[in-house]
Amino acid sequence: MSKVSIPTLLAKKRNSQKFAVVTCYDASFAGAVERAGIDVILVGDSLGNVLQGHSSTLPVTVEDMAYHTACVARGCSSPLIVSDLPFGSYHSEEQCLNNATSLMRAGAHMVKLEGGTWLCDTISKLTRIGIPVCGHLGLTPQSVNVLGGFRVQGREQEQAQAIIEDAKALEAAGASLLVVECVPRALGAELSRALSIPVVGIGAGADTDAQVLVLHDLLGVSPRAPKFVRNFAAGSAGIQDALERYRSAVENGSFPGQEHGFD
Ligand code: KIV
Ligand code: NA
Repeated sequence: MSKVSIPTLLAKKRNSQKFAVVTCYDASFAGAVERAGIDVILVGDSLGNVLQGHSSTLPVTVEDMAYHTACVARGCSSPLIVSDLPFGSYHSEEQCLNNATSLMRAGAHMVKLEGGTWLCDTISKLTRIGIPVCGHLGLTPQSVNVLGGFRVQGREQEQAQAIIEDAKALEAAGASLLVVECVPRALGAELSRALSIPVVGIGAGADTDAQVLVLHDLLGVSPRAPKFVRNFAAGSAGIQDALERYRSAVENGSFPGQEHGFD
């Protein structure tokens, strides 16, 4: 597999080729993900849940993210590595630029942050200093205490419209990718049509440009995986096979199914 870059992903979107993204936190799994031909690795702050045992992502620090980013970067060479800026690491613009710099030095190729229009100035600054950005809209787990739980976002027309406006603003500010989490499938589809950057869905229906899942969820390790997850380890010959099945199911459009989406 040749090195995946932002133009690689933009070309896939233009050619209507779906691509897979998976979270990963260490070198061994990064190698397995690469051998499965998966284009993008997300070093997600979900590591607070799946590695550290917290019930939210709020306790995760920049040091945690940099450590796991460096582990992943040592384990693979082709996938594009996106690392989450954790809760509290981008409250101010200066803090954001410094923390994003740390993640890039650790081996990330792009940073991800959660939120809408209010982040646009920061996103422009990040891209100008050489740090590509992935946005994250819909269910934004770092705001779980404001949202009042992990619930589907954008069901009401007004809220859906606000998410679309935020998405367009993030793209205009220079974001290169957008994750959209737990929104009705019609909104996932509309966002993908409205933007020229790839939209990576999780619980956002089958019509986004790409899909992302948490590694431990797709491998069936998480005891109570959300509705939008398929256990790819069930019936597979092992971890490598499960990762390959995930990639091909995303690429051929057989995952997610109707049962994984929200109305
Ligand atoms: O941290 C994470 O794993 C994520 C994905 C669920 C998109 O942000
Ligand atoms: Na995250």
